[in-house]
Amino acid sequence: MALLPIIIAPDPRLKVKCDPVEKVDAGIVKLLDDMLDTMYDAPGLGLAGPQVGVQKRLLVVDTSKDVDARDPKFLINPEILSASGELFKYEEGCLSLPEHYAEVERPARIRVKYLDRGGAACEMEAEDLLATCIQHEMDHLEGILFVDHLSRLKRSVILRKLQKMKKQQMQKAVGA
Ligand code: NI
Repeated sequence: MALLPIIIAPDPRLKVKCDPVEKVDAGIVKLLDDMLDTMYDAPGLGLAGPQVGVQKRLLVVDTSKDVDARDPKFLINPEILSASGELFKYEEGCLSLPEHYAEVERPARIRVKYLDRGGAACEMEAEDLLATCIQHEMDHLEGILFVDHLSRLKRSVILRKLQKMKKQQMQKAVGA
């Protein structure tokens, strides 16, 4: 169990198309467990490999509201099989874009296939918030951030603020 550092945008490591996981081995299971701890600690509803510097197709999500009734889901090599025409709008945030939120519309219902934490082939139906979270995290595996769904102006305002924040934090760290 370990907390992993989360990469903050803008960063080229968040813009990479990730590779499939070839084998669900002990290293992958440990990575997923560490990602889950990191997500709960942040706290957030989802976390994808590239956000912790691992360019592999895996993610964790948990949209349960109650910390006593947690419901983590681990998705390895997820693929969307079908998506509804009906859309669901949600004010999204992202652990890689701290303190920034914006409404994004995505299909309200999806059917997704994936390998679970044990390496078993699974299918799942998700709707509303869970569907949004899974799609948001799957975007990360393609190097897509939620701000990429916004207008160019809104995106550049958010990314510039984050860049400025990172620069200030770095200056503080070196005592400049
Ligand atoms: Ni995100």
